[in-house]
Amino acid sequence: MSVRREFDQWAERGRDREIAGRHWNTAKHVLARMPIEAGDRVLDLGTGSGYAARTLGSLGADLAVGIDGSPAMARNARSYTDDDRIGFVVGVFDHLPFADDSFDHCFSMEAFYYAGDPHRTLAELRRVLRSGGTFHCAVDYYEENVYAHDWQENIDVEMTLWSAAEYRDAFRDAGFSVATQDNVPDREIEIPPAEEFPIDGYDNREEMIERYRELGTLVTVGVVP
Ligand SMILES: C[S@@+](CC[C@H](N)C(=O)[O-])C[C@H]1O[C@@H](n2cnc3c(N)ncnc32)[C@H](O)[C@@H]1O
Repeated sequence: MSVRREFDQWAERGRDREIAGRHWNTAKHVLARMPIEAGDRVLDLGTGSGYAARTLGSLGADLAVGIDGSPAMARNARSYTDDDRIGFVVGVFDHLPFADDSFDHCFSMEAFYYAGDPHRTLAELRRVLRSGGTFHCAVDYYEENVYAHDWQENIDVEMTLWSAAEYRDAFRDAGFSVATQDNVPDREIEIPPAEEFPIDGYDNREEMIERYRELGTLVTVGVVP
């Protein structure tokens, strides 16, 4: 299935806001780290409900653009704000519809690994970001997070499962410097008492603690030299 068909269905069932609620637990920490300054133009890659684009606007960006391959996602995101500094565009990661050096920073949460060609997406981001610009790439689906490995079985869009080292290598191959890479824990999701397990695919409480409090979201920050 195409990105468009898969995620249009998500948006039409209200899953854009449902997943945003969960992603916010770690995404907000990544957004808070971004060096946004007045006058900046920022991109939210795979915007979904658009919460990150709206947050980037509230952090002082002059223009925040959310791009998404699903027209229904973009339509929903547009309906959640009337701030004319926040825009939403339909387009795919591998052919970004923007001129060279158009953005100061890019954020992406739980979207990059759906790219048809992740190397091409990084090359495109390198192209549209100005020198000194950053790409803050946040993913929960990565090699070290074994609890996510079966996600591909539930979705009809091909996903890229890279390790932390593969993210760093791919960023460097595309011409970024890797400024930082770390794991942002989700300290908010409720972890039930031991007697309630197994639950949600976790055999015991220790597994769920490892998944959320230790592994959390892998964040790789690339900088354009
Ligand atoms: C799991 S959702 C995450 C949305 C949002 N960033 C969040 O944190 O809730 C992934 C989003 O990326 C979009 N997407 C996935 N692959 C894409 C691609 N190759 N080109 C454009 N958009 C894509 C989907 O349509 C979807 O809205």
